[in-house]
Parts: sequence; C-alpha cells; structure tokens
Amino acid sequence: MTETYKGQKMMKKAEEIQEFWAYDMKQSVNSDVTLLDNVQFIYELSLAQLELRALGVNFVATNGLREFKVSNKSNELDEKLIKRTAYLKSVGKRFTDYIQIIQKNRTRSVNQYLTHWIYPYKGKFHPQMIRAILNIIGLNQGDSVLDPFLGSGTTALEAQLLGINCVGIDISPLCVLQSKVKVESIDVLADIINWKGKIRDRIDTPLFNDENKTLDETIESISDEKVKNFYKMAKLVAVSDNARRGRNFSNAFLKNLELMLSSVTDYYQIAKKLNLIV
Ligand SMILES: C[S@@+](CC[C@H](N)C(=O)[O-])C[C@H]1O[C@@H](n2cnc3c(N)ncnc32)[C@H](O)[C@@H]1O
Repeated sequence: MTETYKGQKMMKKAEEIQEFWAYDMKQSVNSDVTLLDNVQFIYELSLAQLELRALGVNFVATNGLREFKVSNKSNELDEKLIKRTAYLKSVGKRFTDYIQIIQKNRTRSVNQYLTHWIYPYKGKFHPQMIRAILNIIGLNQGDSVLDPFLGSGTTALEAQLLGINCVGIDISPLCVLQSKVKVESIDVLADIINWKGKIRDRIDTPLFNDENKTLDETIESISDEKVKNFYKMAKLVAVSDNARRGRNFSNAFLKNLELMLSSVTDYYQIAKKLNLIV
C-alpha cells in the first residue's frame, strides 16, 4: 500500500503543529468562523453564506467575505458547523470535519479526495458544492436524497459522508458500478484485502488471450458482490489506462489496485476518526 502521499504528510504536520499545509490558521479577533482558503469564486462565497444561513447561523461577514462574526454562538451550533459545513476551515480554533476529509487525497486534484477519483469521468459535480447544497436544501442525517442522473456517484459519496441516504439512478451500468464501489467498498475493506494476493497472482497473464480469463474468472468467483465490484472496477480502471494512455495493463492494474485500496483505507480511517456514520 502507498504509505506516503501529500495528504498524509499534510495531516501529520497539521496534527503536530495544529496547522494545515497551505492553510493559514491565524484568525482575526473579529472572526468566529473562517472559510477554506481555496474558496474563491463568487458563487462559492454565495453558497458559503447560504450554507451558513441554512444551518441557522446569524452572522456578519468580515475580511473580504472570508470570515464571519456569529451573533448566536452556542456549543451546539459550533458542533453542527464542524460536522457539516463544506466551505469552512475552522470554527473558533477547531478544524472542521471537511478540511480533515479533503486531506485524504491520493491525487493531484483538490476535488478527488477519498474514493471520488476512482475511474476517469468527465462532467462530474464539484463534491464540495454538493456537500453545501445538501446542507442548503436542509437535509439532515438519516434523510434521503435522490439523484436520478448519478453519473460517477458524487452525490452518493457526499451524502454518505453526511450520514444522508442516497438513491441513485443511471442508465449506464459503468456509472452504477463506479458509484457503488465508491460508497460500498468501505463495508468490506478486510475482505478486499484478503482477496488481494489471489487477484495479484492472476494478473501476470496478458489481457487479451484465453489465459486472461483466469483474472475474470477469479473476480467472478468472489461471492460477496461488494468485493467483486471493487475488483471489477480495478480491472476497468486499468483497461481505461491501457486504452486511453497506452499504459501497460498489468502495471496499471497493480498500481491502481494499490491506490484504490489506499483510498478505501483512507475513507475507513477518517470515518473512524471523525465518527462518521457511513
Ligand atoms: C453529467 S452526468 C452526471 C454526473 C454526476 N452529477 C457526477 O457528479 O458524476 C449525467 C448522467 O446522466 C445519465 N443519464 C442520461 N440519460 C439518462 C436517463 N434517461 N436515465 C438515467 N440516467 C441517464 C448519464 O448516463 C450520465 O451518467
């Protein structure tokens, strides 16, 4: 498994010195809550304020709309903001759940944290915006959301992070598969790890010959649907890397398998640390 990566280093450093790499944690005396540094577009500043209002905050914006003075402060409100907001980095001196979640990223793209990155997909939602919209439309833990054009599963994963049930529909079986893998693999992490040795043994045969059936057959022989889906997805990511980028199938499969496993492990760890109900 990949042990060192940018997010992991950032998290470690943050825990040591109570600061996040690239995030200035200094706060002005006029601020109770502060936006994440990467919140910059006008629509994001607007959504951030809509989100605060939807979560019951009475505020005055300061410091170029990046900090807020809250007039109805309470411990309960602080807790809610820490657990749920999409655009805040801190509430008082405390980090939000979201800033901690986004450190768990195996890619170079700020949006592709946890399992969001799995399988290339053009035209997906910005996950942070979906988290904010779930708050703005007033959904709470235990509520349900329907995404009738689920695509790569962004809504499903963001809903899961907030303890919201998601029903997703997509006409494409590939979209259904990748969405399931992103949210269900965490349930079967130990079983996925148990199957890794056997699956790796099957990968040394070339892709397009009869022998290769042994990889497919091995995947098909997995009785747990969620574990089987994980390995089907790992194969499809490698097929995509091979077809689109000309990468060697076996190398791509092995590399992506480790990355996918690391991402699911990241998800498991952060869910445990933050007591998320996933
Ligand atoms: C732009 S994508 C949605 C992307 C998604 N918001 C995300 O974050 O990944 C639109 C999706 O709608 C699906 N779709 C199109 N027509 C559909 C239909 N009639 N029924 C169900 N899904 C459909 C497509 O397969 C595609 O995955």
